[in-house]
Formats: sequence, structure tokens, C-alpha cells
Amino acid sequence: MREQPHTISGSKGASSLGLVLPLARQYSPRLIGGLLALLAVDLLQLGIPRLVKRAVDLLAHGVASQMALARIALIIFLLALGIAGCRFVWRYLILGFSRLIERDLRDDFFRHLLTLDRPFFQKNPVGAIMALATNDLAAVQLAGGMGLVACADAVIMGIAALACMAYISPHLTLIAVIPMPFLALLTRALSARLHRRFLKVQEQFSRLTEFARSAITNIRLLKAYTQEGAQAEGFSRLGRQYQRDNIRLAGVHGTLFPISGLASNTSLLLAIFFGGRQVIGGAITVGDFVAFISYLYLLTWPMMAVGWVANLFQRGLTSLGRLDEVMAARPTLADPARLLSFPAGQTEISLHHLHFQYEGQEQPALAELSCVIHRGEIVGLVGRSGSGKSTLCHLLARQYPVADGAIFLNGVDINRLSLAAVRARVAYVPQDVLLFSDTVAANIAFGNPAASQAQIEAAARICRIHEEILGFSEGYQTRIGERGVKLSGGQRQRIALARAIILDRPMLIIDDSLSAVDLETEQEIISALAAFLPGRTCLIVSHRIAPLRDAARIIVLEEGKLLAQGKHAELLAASPFYRTMFYQQQMRHREKEL
Ligand SMILES: Nc1ncnc2c1ncn2[C@@H]1O[C@H](COP(=O)(O)OP(=O)(O)O)[C@@H](O)[C@H]1O
Ligand SMILES: [Mg+2]
Repeated sequence: MREQPHTISGSKGASSLGLVLPLARQYSPRLIGGLLALLAVDLLQLGIPRLVKRAVDLLAHGVASQMALARIALIIFLLALGIAGCRFVWRYLILGFSRLIERDLRDDFFRHLLTLDRPFFQKNPVGAIMALATNDLAAVQLAGGMGLVACADAVIMGIAALACMAYISPHLTLIAVIPMPFLALLTRALSARLHRRFLKVQEQFSRLTEFARSAITNIRLLKAYTQEGAQAEGFSRLGRQYQRDNIRLAGVHGTLFPISGLASNTSLLLAIFFGGRQVIGGAITVGDFVAFISYLYLLTWPMMAVGWVANLFQRGLTSLGRLDEVMAARPTLADPARLLSFPAGQTEISLHHLHFQYEGQEQPALAELSCVIHRGEIVGLVGRSGSGKSTLCHLLARQYPVADGAIFLNGVDINRLSLAAVRARVAYVPQDVLLFSDTVAANIAFGNPAASQAQIEAAARICRIHEEILGFSEGYQTRIGERGVKLSGGQRQRIALARAIILDRPMLIIDDSLSAVDLETEQEIISALAAFLPGRTCLIVSHRIAPLRDAARIIVLEEGKLLAQGKHAELLAASPFYRTMFYQQQMRHREKEL
């Protein structure tokens, strides 16, 4: 497994706040309530040094009575109770607020992912997207919860403590705040570095997640090729880099935090030296001095918090930027501005000089392809591997954008119809079978959860899988294991086909979906389909010609171009390519039988 390139770089930064602001507004009553409780905590806390000053002054003047001291102690106790209560309230409200935002953001993110189409998922590995939905969302939640609290607390407490200090002595306050501008400058200087390093950490975590996802989902292949050692080594290498990136990040955070502490201790030192001189000179009382030092202690937390808050916010913003990049991605296919309604009647597909090239490919996958698949016809599509058969199926199932005027349904350009309307009329069985780790019945009824057991069984009968399902330990209720590991390739393919049949849609597109089924069974299934299909338009891709012999028409593709079309007998007579392909397949089949 290659290490995937990453397209999620999160360079958007502060502009990404647009993602959370509407959510924040929605939950603002909670936020405001929480901030008020926080304000109450801070105000109550500011009362305590004033009471301490009273006690110290009483003691210093020798007029303290036991009663007076007990009264002060009681008031302090009541304040402490109030503080504890309000602390509970703000935690409950503000942390709840951040969880609500996280929940909505996750919902929005998931809903948005569901709107994106194949080209996006071709560029962004699943693991990287999973990392966004876990680690990055957690960083946003932390910033919106504890980050916000720490910031509000620091601002409220900082301003209030400074005001109380200035009330005691403006002169001393000015001296005590000397270290602060330095702290602010340092934080500014380090926050850009914090952003860069945290971005690296998150990107590396994306790689790590994708690597693990890829190894675990492909565990069978990995063991068959005895790649456990190499995979473990690859994983460790990514893990070591992740750890180094984290240490580098801790280097910045680790500088900021102690320096904030140093700044607040410097303030204390200045206050003790210069404040002490003021007490000696008689400018302030001993009580004032003690209260001043207590306020400075209250200021310690806001000053320490500067580094912490900067760290949390920077992380939150960085992660928000990464999320925003995916949120800003738009599906490559979009509904036209003026929709036409889907034309009634049985569906006829016509292609006019259809040309299609995958992004980044040099050769077109389909070129100059013109043909009509009439209403109610079963048309076979054959060609060598790489000739463009699956590409045509993708386009008809509306998975990639096509140019105007190339594909028409009942005479209407497919680009003028809504994507949902077209997709709702196509039952598409992709070449790679995808099953869910659920029961057989749930897998067949995936597109139509309301289907009855009788409908499920009817579909299974057409696909010649009914008898085998009855043979499973719990019949239709048998769980098939992660992505169908408990089934054979042919069983998986037939269940996937039954899932499409049960949808009962006017167009059926089967992309070589019976390749692991033996020839006779494939023939039987196609005959059963023909009986079931009257009135539906059906395109069956097969790499084997024999099962398609009775098709109304067979289209032969070669290098994305239409090489020939006609009934089986006509093609045998008219197309040397077809003839050779058919007889080679017959010979190989007979060799296998011998
Ligand atoms: N998702 C894709 N991105 C880029 N190229 C692709 C993609 N899928 C198929 N191709 C290329 O398009 C061509 C046609 O492929 P495909 O339609 O899968 O052929 P077939 O189904 O006939 O085997 C091939 O050259 C293949 O490499
Ligand atoms: Mg194919």
C-alpha cells in the first residue's frame, strides 16, 4: 500500500470560523448563561482578598476579636459555596455548548460527505477523512469548550483583578504589569509556529489512520502475500514521524507555558519589592499589601492561561480549516439550473458521439461512441479489458460528469435531468461487489428496506442464489461477515445482483457482475432476467460472449470505440474481432471442461 498523497491542508485558517458561528448563535443562550456563571465565580473570588485584608488589618491593629474573625471566616465559607455552585453551572452549560457544536458540525460534515461524488473520494483516502471526523473535530470541540472558558475566565479575572489592584495602588499596579506586554508579543510570535506544527501533526495522523484502515480492510491479501512484517514496519515509520511531529509541537507549547509562569512570577517579585517599600514608607497598609499580593495570585492564572488558550485556539482553528476544506468541496456533478422533468414511458438510451476522459489520463476512455439501446431491449456489451465497458456504466449511473449532448434518455439530454431522478431509474450493479456486514436479507433489501420476504426470495430465485441461501446456517438471516467474507465470490455477485433486481427500476445496468459464476449459471440467470425484464431497458456487460448469445443486440467496444454491433450470428459473420474472441473463449471453456 502506497502512502496516499494528501489534499487536505487546512490553509484556510480564521475564515473557517464561518463553519461554527451560525451554530454558536443557535446555542447562544447556553453560552451566555455559562459566561454569566463564570463572571459570578470571578466576582465572588475577588471578594475573598478583601475579607483577608479586613482580617489582617484587624490583627495588625490589635483589635481583632474571636467573633469578628469567625464572621469573616463564615463569609469566606459562604463565598466558597457560591463559587462551587457557579463553577458547576458554567461547566455544565459551556462544555455542553461545545458538545452541541461538535455534534452539529459532525452531522453537517457527514451530510456533506454524502453529497460528494466519485472524483472527490478518488482524491481523498477514507482514512484521512476519518481522521478529520475524529481528531480534528475533537480539537474544535476543545477550543469551543475549555478554550472559550479559559479565555473568558482570563479576560474577566484579568480585568477585575487589575481593577482591584489599581484601586489599592495604581502606581504599584503599573510596576506589576511590566512583564505582560512581553508575554503578549511572545504569544503572537509563537502562534504561527504552533499552527504550522499542529497542521503537520494532524496531517500525519491522517496518514496513520489511512494506513491502518487500508491494512485492516485488506488483511486477507496482506497475509496471503506475507506482508505483515513490511506493513508493521511501514506503520511504525508513520508512527515515529507522528511522535516526532508531536514532540516538535510540544516544543512550542512547552516554551509558551513556562514563560507565562515566569512572567507572572516576575510580577510577584516586582510587587513584593516595590509594594514592601510602600508599606515601609506608609503609603499602603499591611492589609492592602496582602490583598494586593492575593490579587496578583488571582492574576497568575489568566497570565498562565495566555499560552494555554493560544494553544487551544490555534489547534481548533487549524482543525477547523482542515474540515472547511472538505466542506468547501463541491460535487463535480450538479443539477442543472433549469430542470426538465423525466420523460414518461419506457426508457430509451441513446449516445451521440460520446467522448469521455478521466482526469489526469492521456487517452480518452470512450471516444465517438454512438448507439441506441431501445426500450425494453437487453443489450450485451463486450470488449477486452480496458476497452471502456465499465466507464460507460459509470456514466449511465451518473457517477462522472459528461458533456452536453452526449447521452439522451427518451430523447432528453441527461444533463438537463436531475441527478436523483436519473439515478432513481437505474438499477446498477457495479463490477466490484460491495456488501454490508449484515444479514443476507438486509443486503438484498438494501435499496428497498420495505421489501417483503417474498420479494426478497423472488429476486434471489432470479439470481439462482435462493437454494444456496436456504442452505446457510440461518437462511436469509445469516450474517455474511465484514463485507461478505463468509461467502464465495460467485455468491457475493449473485446477492449483489438480487439487490439490484429487487429495486424493479426501468433501467438495469450489470457490469460484468457474474464473472465468478460458472458459464451455465450465468446463462440461466440471463434467461431468467429476460423473462423478468419485459419493458425494462437492460445493458449487460460480460467478458464472456456465450451467455449473451440471445441478447437483442451485442455492442463490441475496442479502445473506447464502437467496433461492431448486431445479433450474435450477424457479428460472427461480420466481425473478425468478435469471431476470434468468441472462438478463443469457446476453446478455453472446453479445455477447462476436459
Ligand atoms: N477511475 C479511473 N481513473 C482513471 N482512469 C480510469 C479509471 N477507471 C478506468 N480508467 C481507465 O479507463 C480505461 C477504460 O477502463 P474501464 O472502463 O474500466 O474498462 P473495462 O471495464 O472495459 O475493463 C482504462 O484505460 C482504464 O485504465
Ligand atoms: Mg470493467
